[in-house]
Amino acid sequence: MEQTAITSSRELDLEHLWHGNLQHHGLDRRPPLEVTGAHGCWIWDADGRRYLDGMAGLWCVNVGYGRQKIVDAVAAQMTQMPYYPLTQSHGPGARLAARLAGLLPGELNRVYFLNSGSEAVETALKIARQASRRLHPGENRFKIISRYRAYHGFTMGAMSATGQAFRKRDFEPLVPGFFHVVPPDPYHCDFCAKEPGCTLTCADEFDRVIRMEGPDTVAAIIMEPVIGGGGVLPAPEGYIRRVREICDRYGVLLILDEVITGFGRTGKLFGFEHSGVTPDIATFAKGLTSAYLPLAATVATGRVFQAFSSAEDDTAKFTQVTTFGGHPCSCAAGLANLDILTEERLWENSAQVGAYLKNRLIELGAPSIGEVRGMGLLIGIEMVEAGTRTPMRESRVISIQRAIRDRGVIVGRNNDTAPGLCNTLTISPPLTLTEGEADIIVEAISASL
Ligand SMILES: Cc1ncc(COP(=O)(O)O)c(C=O)c1O
Repeated sequence: MEQTAITSSRELDLEHLWHGNLQHHGLDRRPPLEVTGAHGCWIWDADGRRYLDGMAGLWCVNVGYGRQKIVDAVAAQMTQMPYYPLTQSHGPGARLAARLAGLLPGELNRVYFLNSGSEAVETALKIARQASRRLHPGENRFKIISRYRAYHGFTMGAMSATGQAFRKRDFEPLVPGFFHVVPPDPYHCDFCAKEPGCTLTCADEFDRVIRMEGPDTVAAIIMEPVIGGGGVLPAPEGYIRRVREICDRYGVLLILDEVITGFGRTGKLFGFEHSGVTPDIATFAKGLTSAYLPLAATVATGRVFQAFSSAEDDTAKFTQVTTFGGHPCSCAAGLANLDILTEERLWENSAQVGAYLKNRLIELGAPSIGEVRGMGLLIGIEMVEAGTRTPMRESRVISIQRAIRDRGVIVGRNNDTAPGLCNTLTISPPLTLTEGEADIIVEAISASL
């Protein structure tokens, strides 16, 4: 039925919208924030209240809101040629693929466009399975190993790789052939508790699982350079290099999920640059367009791509089609976004202001802050019961997050992840954040503890 003009968006929302990860019962008492405007690092709600967006939407508006250059590029593309699928070709798709390949290490040079991070991961998993069968004839490599606490997306394959029990339990059984190992978490590490320092035993767990399963059955390892939504867990020094060595030892492909860590978030252009390791396949989304339009990419090395090339066998091609993936307007947004990101070298601001913000949070020295960790402008604050390492009850973390929002700052929270570990506040603002804005975040957190 047609709605009357006097019905507010809030009423329409409560009546008709279905929000993910949100209990709708009682939502009328605390409705979601209705955001009506945005500029720089700031957003405005329908009542005209201003908030500092400490999460850049969902870890994605890397260049900040209100970039006219992206708007103009999309409008021009919309006018010239609003859509054609990449079953054929178009300039924005080809140019963005080349641009991305130019920013990545030389081997990572083949780009498949999609619409979301979940699809990029799903595609990476499919490429890994199909390529592995072709790279290792006579073997049956289909298994994928990932890490507990990691998030890789909501589709069945990406969810199977995800290591968060709460995101999966209602949808099981998931896709067969997925295995998990414990991620690095120095603050709670069981492996190294009695050691003088980190032994990287958690990285060696991949080796153990590959041997137990049989290397000739394992296609790929997938991991985020820094676990993001699972609680901001950076890889310790040497960890990713060790995982790369294990992959090479057994002919297993390494997929790095850069959906959050890509495009400056961690203080370098890509998360894997901190490790000096190049993956066989990388997945990107969020910061690729800074979310001005949906776009994601799965990028493979020439070696992986060549596994699909055959003069005799037409079935060797990668068997997947997408209607919207690589939409020309999204690609135009991506090109303008990468211009801004590289002209302003925003990863440098991410490193500098990220370090400043992290230090200021550490200096708070609050007894309920167990650990502040992260890289660049990707920061997690592990909340604990005062003076202990016991994770804070989730209901208390929620209250603190709300109190911070009531003070005009949006921070995130690793909700619905692993049992007993939903206690990390997350900060992932636009990479244009200034030290003055970082101070505003710190003050709102400090006053809310
Ligand atoms: C590391 C990682 N991979 C994949 C995804 C899925 O991306 P999307 O929500 O765009 O499907 C996310 C989403 O936050 C993510 O953090």
